Amino acid sequence: MSFNLQTLTFSKLGKNEKIPYDLLLLADPEKNMIDEYLKVSDIFISIYQEKIVGVIVLYPLEEKDAEIKNVAVHPDFQRKGIGSYLIDQICKVAKENHYRRLIIGTANSSLGQLYLYQKLGFDMCELRKDFFIQHYAEPIVENGIRAKHMIILEKYS
Ligand code: ACO
Repeated sequence: MSFNLQTLTFSKLGKNEKIPYDLLLLADPEKNMIDEYLKVSDIFISIYQEKIVGVIVLYPLEEKDAEIKNVAVHPDFQRKGIGSYLIDQICKVAKENHYRRLIIGTANSSLGQLYLYQKLGFDMCELRKDFFIQHYAEPIVENGIRAKHMIILEKYS
């Protein structure tokens, strides 16, 4: 399938538009937790040929910080640069909205994601020990590693 990143759109999801849970659940298997952070977050989507292929969620924190709570790309469209594009776009949105710092958290087992976020300029700043053991009902295993801790990475605007 040929794919052209230039034709991808990036826009904020309207309050009455359907929430793309199929994508959000790829990044976060707990729907209850998703619904909790969506109450105060903005959802941004990317559309390709009339299909939502990517989603990213911006959650405001105190002190003009914000967190990327969820970033996900449709499995058929992964490894084509869309994840990088979504994160670059949300960094621009954060800067335009005068956020000072963006953070993003991922599991110790999410090796590809840790690589991607560091490649895009995020730097490790905190470890939330046993986060995935305490907050998720089912064990999560990736790359043969149990997801136990959440690693927080930060990027200044
Ligand atoms: N495994 C290994 N490397 C990866 C992975 C992966 N799963 N994902 C990205 N990378 C690396 C690759 O090196 C890739 O470059 P390459 O293909 O040239 O080698 C580089 O990151 C750039 O990847 P993109 O194409 O820009 O990223 P993509 O469009 O695939 O989106 C994403 C990345 C969002 C992580 C996607 O794989 C996805 O939706 N995964 C499932 C959901 C998920 O895990 N979301 C993140 C959870 S943490 C959070 O939401 C805060």
